[in-house]
Amino acid sequence: MGFQITAAASYVPTKVVSNQDLESMMDTSDEWIKSRTGITQRYISENGRTSELCINVAQQLLKQHGLKAHDIDLIIVATMSPDSLTPSTASIVQGAIGAERAGAFDLNAACSGFVYGMSVANGMLKSGMAKRIMLIGGEVLSKLVDWSDRGTAVLFGDGAGGVIIQDSEYSNMLNSKLESIGEQGQYLTAGVMNKPVQVSDFNFEMNGRRVYEFATKQVPYSIEETVSEAGLELKDIDHFLLHQANARIIKQVAKKLNEPIEKFPCNIDRFGNTAAASEPLLLAEQLANNKIKRGDVILLSGFGGGLTIATTIIKF
Ligand code: ACO
Repeated sequence: MGFQITAAASYVPTKVVSNQDLESMMDTSDEWIKSRTGITQRYISENGRTSELCINVAQQLLKQHGLKAHDIDLIIVATMSPDSLTPSTASIVQGAIGAERAGAFDLNAACSGFVYGMSVANGMLKSGMAKRIMLIGGEVLSKLVDWSDRGTAVLFGDGAGGVIIQDSEYSNMLNSKLESIGEQGQYLTAGVMNKPVQVSDFNFEMNGRRVYEFATKQVPYSIEETVSEAGLELKDIDHFLLHQANARIIKQVAKKLNEPIEKFPCNIDRFGNTAAASEPLLLAEQLANNKIKRGDVILLSGFGGGLTIATTIIKF
């Protein structure tokens, strides 16, 4: 039983917010944002509906694959910024595309959500519960941003990306590792629900230093362990697709692993940190640009709120 990504697509809202735009809204500078994070712009949704971005991706996936909505058994949307707690964003997508045979649920593991979703999809395929799965990572993080907090407001962007996953004799998931360090969860929060719910409770609050330390320490461990448990060496990985939280984190991880930075594609400059959408946005872009070929070994590693980490290796 294999695991093959047979289609990949992405979509971002049309409104671009540059670092210069942010300079007029808060006490920050293009130079500070670029040098600390690698971000130059991000896309922002005007109406805040995550489902709208995900539906666009779902329609592209069906078209690209030549599938009917009826052919999909399961829709998983990885998101930490759903339209609502219920109905799930996945159910909204399922209804909108008319996938009447499909089950649907949201999965929240913050920025690790898409990679968690890949493992869940693999399990569903292996158990025989689903044959063709649509997995989408979609976020409108801008609705969780406190625009008066320059420490977080400059980091996040909106977008969605997704894949169709099905059985194949040619491709496989070689290993997968899901982790959570719940005792450090307070370093990155959003959507905290107290009673009565206060609008301000919903905004991001982050201890950036602690999240940076967590990422640069735990992500290399997670990658090394996942690679070694798969009976591989780091040199066997053709592409390291890391969550796009910060260009400095990616450089630091590459340095710790002693692997060339060219193996770590980066698009955070244009999208900012889009949490669960970041991995599929990068994957779809790499595939569209023919950077990833059939047979390549790719490693995806997501990390973020929870604090969570998920690493998976796929023979593409
Ligand atoms: N513009 C200008 N100055 C700023 C800004 C800003 N946007 N934000 C903070 N500063 C100032 C601070 O006030 C501070 O000033 P001070 O020295 O006068 O007190 C100074 O810059 C340094 O602030 P630090 O927070 O120490 O800056 P640092 O070098 O740690 O960089 C950053 C901050 C970029 C947030 C970094 O800590 C980081 O990348 N952390 C990881 C964040 C991350 O990846 N989060 C997402 C996780 S994924 C998820 O699940 C959503």
